[in-house]
Amino acid sequence: MTTIVSVGSGKGGVGKSVMAANLAMLLARHGKRVVLADLDIGGADAHILFGILRPPLTLTDFVERRVERLEDVLQPVSAHPFLHLIPGTGDTLATANLPYAKKKRLIRHFRQLQADVIIVDIGAGTSYHALDFFLMADHYLTVATPDPTSVLDLYRFIKLAAIRRVLSAFLSRDAVSEALSDRDFCSIEEVIQAVGDTDPNARETASRTLQGFQPHLIVNRVSGKSRVNVLQLKKLLKEYVGGDLMMLGEIPDDQAMTRAVRSYLPVVEFEPTAPASLALEKAAQTLLSIITSPAPVLSENPLPPEQAA
Ligand SMILES: Nc1ncnc2c1ncn2[C@@H]1O[C@H](COP(=O)(O)OP(=O)(O)O)[C@@H](O)[C@H]1O
Ligand SMILES: [Mg+2]
Repeated sequence: MTTIVSVGSGKGGVGKSVMAANLAMLLARHGKRVVLADLDIGGADAHILFGILRPPLTLTDFVERRVERLEDVLQPVSAHPFLHLIPGTGDTLATANLPYAKKKRLIRHFRQLQADVIIVDIGAGTSYHALDFFLMADHYLTVATPDPTSVLDLYRFIKLAAIRRVLSAFLSRDAVSEALSDRDFCSIEEVIQAVGDTDPNARETASRTLQGFQPHLIVNRVSGKSRVNVLQLKKLLKEYVGGDLMMLGEIPDDQAMTRAVRSYLPVVEFEPTAPASLALEKAAQTLLSIITSPAPVLSENPLPPEQAA
């Protein structure tokens, strides 16, 4: 069975793509058949991290139906035989009107890929596409740096993802989804309140949906002076979002990372003993144990109705 791991962040430039690329590489080394899929809307660059400067086919070719199968755009990566890449698309996904049917088709085809793990690099920010692609995964990974704006943006991102996830639970409940579809919500409490007003039983469903929302966090570019108060962030999220934030790892700020990017190789390949590489290996092992542990009870994430998008 394929496990999808999405990698998202509130802010760009925090190291999402390098985290995704290195974790993909490490899972491949651990014997998993891995696909790294670049869904960074408008900022697709995962292929460059592997030195593929002009991919012959990209996700655009699939979305625009120039090829029928998602497998057709799979690109081998010379760094490891178990690792394949789905190069991202230029602007196709950025045009915010990717129709619902195409989004659904894309997600369905991802699920059908022959792979053990698909790591999906999601664009920064909180567009509905970014949130939907983030939420289509089995496991959610978020990345932030200790920079206060990055932490704040991460908080916003997780909050909006949680709201969208709760809304998605009511896809088939007509009265509730109608009552919710045209509204903008600022907090989970507001959503649950609105849901409860429409149907008291739905309140229970909303709370249960939230309990299954447990994003993982990588804090990247940690240095002696700058650390995130993870406990405080966890507490804030528990209070205002309801979900638990689980720590996946802390990756130090490391010049080896910049050298690796310039050499078109994941740092774990370029300098395997660099501090960042060692921390990434630890994070990959934790991720592996999460992937191979039994599936959470609430793993289904139907997409919310299009009118909510
Ligand atoms: N741990 C780190 N130490 C030093 N530089 C880093 C680290 N992580 C990322 N970087 C630098 O940040 C740049 C942006 O990372 P990237 O993964 O492209 O960000 P995002 O995908 O979030 O926009 C990289 O090119 C790299 O040079
Ligand atoms: Mg990126």
